Amino acid sequence: MNGTHAMLSHFPVGFWALATLMILVGAFLSGRLAEISRAALLPVLILSVLGALAAIIIGFLVWPMEANLTSPLARNHILMAFWSLGIFSMITVLVWKAGDAAFEGNRRWVLVILALTGGLMFSSAGTLGGHLVGASTAFSDVLGLMGWEVYTTFYSPLWVIAVMVLIGIGSAVVGLKGRRTAT
Ligand code: HEM
Repeated sequence: MNGTHAMLSHFPVGFWALATLMILVGAFLSGRLAEISRAALLPVLILSVLGALAAIIIGFLVWPMEANLTSPLARNHILMAFWSLGIFSMITVLVWKAGDAAFEGNRRWVLVILALTGGLMFSSAGTLGGHLVGASTAFSDVLGLMGWEVYTTFYSPLWVIAVMVLIGIGSAVVGLKGRRTAT
């Protein structure tokens, strides 16, 4: 079943790469191509999330949990897979709820920042998958430049988590205020 994971993992990676490109085109270009990118984004995002769920489920079915958790490389791979899924699920909900309005004005930056962050995460997940099968790439060195050593468990310092929580609370407050002003 190893081959099934390798085969299925192409779906989220391919759809996430396409969705990231469509978000950039939809956010920064005008004309027919941008319109098509915005209109077709939601189905691509839904397929990407379904593909990721399939790759993750098969991953947990194929390899025993003890083996996954013993190797820092596998732990990092799984961590990046879940971060990618989380970020692209968030983008999917945003685009689903807001539709074309998600691209209006400064709102587009939320999509762009999330998509670029998600892009970094799924590239890392794929790179670490390659490492696991003995096919490392130059992208591992890019991760190294950012302070992520692929053979050591990735971690976020406590202050980063605190900043992320504060950004989350701040965003919720801004959103609630915006909703009250609109009604
Ligand atoms: C979005 C989710 C995921 C993506 C995109 C992904 C991607 C990949 C890729 C591209 C490879 C290299 C495959 C090859 O070239 O043969 C790989 C290998 C691997 N993945 Fe994942 N993966 C995901 C989730 C998971 C999960 C959840 C687990 C474990 C529970 C896992 C465990 C592994 C292992 C152990 C390998 C090495 C396979 C081998 O030694 O043959 N992956 N993954």
